[in-house]
Parts: sequence; C-alpha cells; structure tokens
Amino acid sequence: MNEQQILDGVSRRSVLQAVGASTSAGVMFAAMGAIGMAPTAAGQPGAQAWVPPGRSDFNLTGRAKKKVVVVGGGPAGLATAYELQKAGYKVTVLEARHRVGGRTLTIRDGDSETDLDGVKQTARFDKGIYMNAGAGRIAQWMVTMDYMRELGVPYEVFTNANADAYLYNEKTGSTPGNPTRYRTAKADVFGYTSELLHLATDQGALDAQLTAEDKENLRAFLRSWGSLSGGKYSGGSNRGYSTYPSAWNEHGTALPGPGSMSSVLASKFGSYFSFEVNWEQAMLMFQPVGGMDTIYQYFAKQVGWENVLLNSPVSGVKNTPKGVTVTYSPTNGRPKQIDADFAVVCAPAGLMRRWDTNWGSEIDAALGEFAVGSPAGKIGLQYRSRWWETDHRIYGGITETDMDLAHVWHPSYGYGAKKGLMVGYYNTGANARTYADLSPKQRQARAVALGEKIFGPKYRTELESSFSIAWHKVPYIEGAWAYPNTSSARFKKLQQGVGNTYFAGDWMSEISAWQHGAFWAARYSVQALHQRVMST
Ligand code: FAD
Ligand code: ALA
Repeated sequence: MNEQQILDGVSRRSVLQAVGASTSAGVMFAAMGAIGMAPTAAGQPGAQAWVPPGRSDFNLTGRAKKKVVVVGGGPAGLATAYELQKAGYKVTVLEARHRVGGRTLTIRDGDSETDLDGVKQTARFDKGIYMNAGAGRIAQWMVTMDYMRELGVPYEVFTNANADAYLYNEKTGSTPGNPTRYRTAKADVFGYTSELLHLATDQGALDAQLTAEDKENLRAFLRSWGSLSGGKYSGGSNRGYSTYPSAWNEHGTALPGPGSMSSVLASKFGSYFSFEVNWEQAMLMFQPVGGMDTIYQYFAKQVGWENVLLNSPVSGVKNTPKGVTVTYSPTNGRPKQIDADFAVVCAPAGLMRRWDTNWGSEIDAALGEFAVGSPAGKIGLQYRSRWWETDHRIYGGITETDMDLAHVWHPSYGYGAKKGLMVGYYNTGANARTYADLSPKQRQARAVALGEKIFGPKYRTELESSFSIAWHKVPYIEGAWAYPNTSSARFKKLQQGVGNTYFAGDWMSEISAWQHGAFWAARYSVQALHQRVMST
C-alpha cells in the first residue's frame, strides 16, 4: 500500500480503530499525527503544513462533538467555521454587520453603507457593475486560490500591471498635462541606467567585481534590456508610438523623445517598477468573478446560512469553567447569550478591548498593540462608456500618480461592455484621511478634478455615479489593516489563546492585509483547538 492509499481513508480508519480501542486520546492523537490525520511537529506553522481536522476524528474516537462560537464573519471567521464544521463541530458565527466578508466588501447596485459619522451612501450602479471596496487581488501562491478552487468559486485574471497604463507625477514636474505610459517610462529608465552601467563596465569601474566573461555577459544583457546601440540609449520602438504601424508603408510614428538622462532620473518613475516583482503583488494575479465577497457567499453556504447570524454584534466573551459564554445583541432584539465549548474570535483586534471579557491584562495589552487601525480609502466611479479602453487603449491595470489619488484602477472585468467602473483613488495614510474628512460628494469632486488632469474631460463628462469608502470609519472594522510584531512575546500570547478562547484574523498572521494571512491564522487556531480537543 502506498502512502497516498494510506492517507485516503479506509486504511487510516483501521489504524485508528486498532489503537483507539485500548489507548488514551492523547496516544490516539499522536497516532493520527503519524498517519497524517492530525497536526504533527512537522505540521506546525513553521513547516506550513495543514492537516484539516477530519470528521472521522470524532467518529472514530467516540468523543462528543464540541460546540464553537466564531465571532466575526470575515475571511478568518468563515474559514474557521468551515474547517471546524467539516470536522463535525457545531458552529455558530456571530457577525456584527449586515453582511459577511468583512474587509472583502464588494459594493453593487443598491448596497448601502453608513459610516461612523452617520453618513449613508447607497450605490447606484448598473447590473453587473461592482466595486471591490476592500480586497481586490489575489496572488497565485496564496491559499485564497485553494479555497476558491475547493469551494467552486469562479475566478479570472486580475491585471495588476499594464504597460499601457499611465504614470503621472506632478510633484516632480515631469508629466503635468502629459501622462507617460509605463512602457515609455520603463524604456527610458532601463535605457539610461543600462547606458550608465555599460559605460562603467567599459571604463573598468567594475573590474574588481567582474571577469572579462562576466563583463561581456553584462553588456549583452544591457544592450537588450536598455535597447542600447553602441552602448548608448536613444529611444526606439519600445517607448511606443503616437501613430501605430498599420499597412501600406504606414510605419507608424514613434513617440518624440526620449528626454535627457537627467530629466528621466528626475521624473522618479523608476520607483514604480519594483511593484510588479513584489512577492505579494507579482503578476499574474486573480479575482473572483463578480466581486471579492463572492468567496464568502460560498463559505457561508457551506457553513449553512442558518449557522451565520448577521446583525449580531458581540459585546462579551467570557471563559467559564466549562467553556465560554458569548454575549451578543441582535439588531432589533434583546441581548442574548450562547454557551459553547470554545470561542474563536476573528474580529479586528483593537475593537475587542471594548468588550466585556475576562481574558486578563496580558491579553488586553497584546490586543492594545492593534488599537489604531490604518486608514485607507477607495472611490468607485461608474462611467457610461469605457473611454479608457476606446480612447486610451488601457485594458485593465493600474495608473499611478503622486497626486493624493495614489492608485487608479482600470477594471479587470467587463471588457468590451458598454459601461464600466474605475477605482478613482486607492490611497492610504494622510491621503486617505484627506478624502475621509470630506463628504461623499466632495470626495467625488476632488477625485474627478485630479483624475481629469491625467485622462482628460471624459473623466468628468462620462461619469454617472460614485461610491466611496473610508475604512477607518466603517463600523466594526475601523481600519484597513494592522501589522503585528509577530516575534514579540505579547503576540505569542495571542497565538496561544486564553482559556477556551482562541484568536484569528489577518492581524494574527505573517501577512496582514491579505486574505491569505487571515486564512492561515484561522487554520492554525483550528489546528490548536482541535489538537486540544483530541488530546483531552
Ligand atoms: P475582517 O475582514 O476585518 O473581518 C472581521 C469581521 O468581524 C468583520 O466582518 C466584522 O464586521 C466582524 N466584527 C467586528 N466586530 C464584531 C463584533 N463585535 N461582533 C461580531 N462580529 C464583529 N486582501 C487580499 O487578499 N487582497 C487584496 O487585494 C486586499 N486588498 C485590500 C484592500 C483594502 C482597502 C483593505 C481594507 C483590505 C484589503 N485586503 C486584501 C485585506 C483583506 O480584506 C483582509 O486581510 C481580510 O478581510 C481579513 O480577514 P479577517 O477575517 O481577519 O478580518
Ligand atoms: N493587500 C492590499 C492590496 O493589495 C494591501 O492592496
């Protein structure tokens, strides 16, 4: 019997039955680990192994199924509930807001959000048009891809980098009135830096570092990378055209330029280019079809909507000698309590400190490190035409600017449709606060006034409606993300949980601000909880 067959079920069961009849649960659990049914030392976080608890873990050991309350219906909460329920746990998810998904919020026509200042917006978008107000993209290596596959969520490519999108730097004085395409900026930055390196190589400046063969290999690379001719950069077709080549001797008109080496360096365009090889952001990326929160509709369906209580903010989690008591207040109802064996709390860390708990001062101090969530904002702009595709030939990707808009997203769905939605700003920090402090109407006005500088009059005249979000003003979220000091002793306290309560969330992971982090934090809490159940 090969290893796969052993892992495939029947044989695993017989091994367990053999040891289960006469041994303790702890031994049983160790045996389960040995045959891949429970986490082993090699399966701990460092090794990134994940052995989901299986239904047979309860069936074969004759243990009573445990009841778990999961607080928060975002990615961490729903993944926790999903994994536990698959293994036979009885789960109840308490979600404070009117929808699941947390910060993976997708806004569609008719969706309303009221912020902490009481400002209400209702989206007026056409059918099929949506705005991912929070999470928008997924890297191929992320576990989010695995969950989409497992749940059957359809997904498609998200274009994170596009040579035809623009760079527009006002502060450097390089592009006002004349946005530069990524391809042009890259050709110039790569060209001139290649020229300099080529020169340095020729002049012997790198002789201590390079052999003659190394130097020839480097020069060959630079000639290609920087489109050099005779060691010099003087532009070329990589920069793009003002009139594209067609037929019958229409060779096309190359863009005028390049500017001088000094002006290209002064543009500071080079600082945008590392993004697309960033390990989190690198192309190719993906998105669920129809909006990011689709993933959580699928999760909730699996968990069973009857087990997911919306509009049910939790205000207290207390460890008791037998388990936990969780207090929540359904909107339009009286406060209620649920007793369970365990709680897994997947709400934003900073907010839990307002609850009635008996977790102690160390946990409180650890949660205190997440007290202030970072601001981030987005605006969705619905247009009656897809002028960025027809007039600018930009199909997906991101236009970058040093104006306070920061990142302007072209949609990666609905190509060729009549209408579409651009994300007019995606900003963080002080820029996000600037917009957050404005009314929705003022945000739109500012975004349009600045965007118009890049894209021209249609940015204003084709606009139909907008919806904006300021994450630090979203009730029950109050921040875009928080980064933990994952090697601090305080953080390790949170990993252990307290009493019968465990914690999960992207803030508990090595990769905060990504669903991937929330999922892994959920998995490790599930693993720890299950290990405990199986060993007692
Ligand atoms: P959350 O999503 O915050 O979920 C927590 C849940 O707890 C919420 O539903 C909240 O309502 C609920 N809750 C709070 N208080 C209570 C209470 N008292 N009682 C009950 N429930 C409560 N990730 C990506 O993978 N790709 C991206 O491109 C990406 N971009 C992002 C862009 C933005 C602007 C933002 C804000 C986030 C982005 N993320 C992205 C991050 C991603 O959204 C988060 O990592 C993920 O949502 C974290 O999941 P979570 O379950 O830990 O927390
Ligand atoms: N993960 C967030 C994003 O990609 C920060 O925008």
